[in-house]
Amino acid sequence: MKFKSIKGTKDILPFEVGAWQLVERTIHDVMRTFNYKEIRTPAFEETSLFARSIGELTDIVSKEMYTFKDRSDDSLTLRPEGTASVLRAYIQHALGEQSPLTKVYYIGPMFRQERPQAGRLRQFHQFGAEAIGSPSPQLDVEMMLMALEVYTNLGIESSTLKINSVGCQKCRPAYKELLIRELRKVYEKLSPESQARVLQNPLRVLDSKDENDQKLTHNAPLIKDHLCSDCTEHFAEARALLDATNTRYQVDGRLVRGLDYYTKTAFEIASSALGSQDALAGGGRYDLLVEELGGKPTPGVGFAAGMERLLMVLAKRELSTDLEVQPVLFIAALNEQSRRWAFVKACELRSKGISVEVDCLGRSLKAQMREANRQHARFVVVIGENELASGSTNLKNMQTGQESPVKLDSLDSVFRA
Ligand code: HAM
Repeated sequence: MKFKSIKGTKDILPFEVGAWQLVERTIHDVMRTFNYKEIRTPAFEETSLFARSIGELTDIVSKEMYTFKDRSDDSLTLRPEGTASVLRAYIQHALGEQSPLTKVYYIGPMFRQERPQAGRLRQFHQFGAEAIGSPSPQLDVEMMLMALEVYTNLGIESSTLKINSVGCQKCRPAYKELLIRELRKVYEKLSPESQARVLQNPLRVLDSKDENDQKLTHNAPLIKDHLCSDCTEHFAEARALLDATNTRYQVDGRLVRGLDYYTKTAFEIASSALGSQDALAGGGRYDLLVEELGGKPTPGVGFAAGMERLLMVLAKRELSTDLEVQPVLFIAALNEQSRRWAFVKACELRSKGISVEVDCLGRSLKAQMREANRQHARFVVVIGENELASGSTNLKNMQTGQESPVKLDSLDSVFRA
């Protein structure tokens, strides 16, 4: 019997992990500069948490969740996104009482049973952030800037920021009625998917990928032109802040996110380096969600970004072998006694923070040198009877090929310098 990984899941193999670690380091660094603290929540939650927050009628909840009954007959779901869990933790641990503004970020696997294709997996990874406690558009913009900063720091230039305002409970109901009236006029000609959305979630009809739907709704009213004064001001200030921070963006009046919890700002970052699944990140404000989940009325805003998609864009750039985890020093040994010495020395150097590899397969010197090369070791020393007797050897720089004498008991100082 041969086991294989489940369709839509991927192993991250040792030669790929360097790029992941670089991305993770960049995320931690960027989040630190914006003063966000990491939060880690469980990979599964009560099913109703997601249904309540993301929305029963969304594709995620109605078609894509990994939901199962556990042995106590409780309905559980592997998290399809991070926001619901973060807010559940925020309410459960009364984080709002410790500080009026909670700024947290996360990195981790999410699960959605979608049809796998390039850039779309069933277990994928997101990094994301949530700021809970302030209605200020400064935080909406902070979210966009944080995501963009991660991309810029990784040398990704090909991203486009699109923003919209999806209104609030004051202005959205009247707009929805207006939109439904307009959509009814072309109802018969809409795709079956859009027809189903007309009554349930009419805003998403505007977001349809179907070309005919797009033509039919070309002149449909857009929510950004029907906002209440509060939402209008909020959206104007968010745009002013983007201008003041020299951030390039497009207003996209058709941008509607696939999750129901958004109010006011919604945004997406897309990359032209990706195919049809071009969304690198998405987010927005959710001022009603904390209350919806049983907390005190508290505004919030956040974003999440797909890490596999980010890595697909990165993979198009030539990344150096520096990204692979590589030993600084390879100690090649010629006989039994020197193998033992090499092992003990490696342990000593490692405890001083120096990355060292030795041969544990009893290989010939030639094979050990080949291995050192394959692993991109930066330096190699060869130890045999003579070197142990004299207490010195040659340190070979594998990039330049240069060799210089070094004392065996001062090897650590060479690498710590
Ligand atoms: P989302 O738009 O559903 O938002 O997902 C955010 C990002 O996750 C997407 O832009 C995409 O890069 C990535 N992603 C989503 N599904 C997949 C998949 N099946 N395979 C690979 N990557 C995928 C959210 O999840 C919200 N929680 C964002 C948010 C946080 N809003 C406020 N706070």
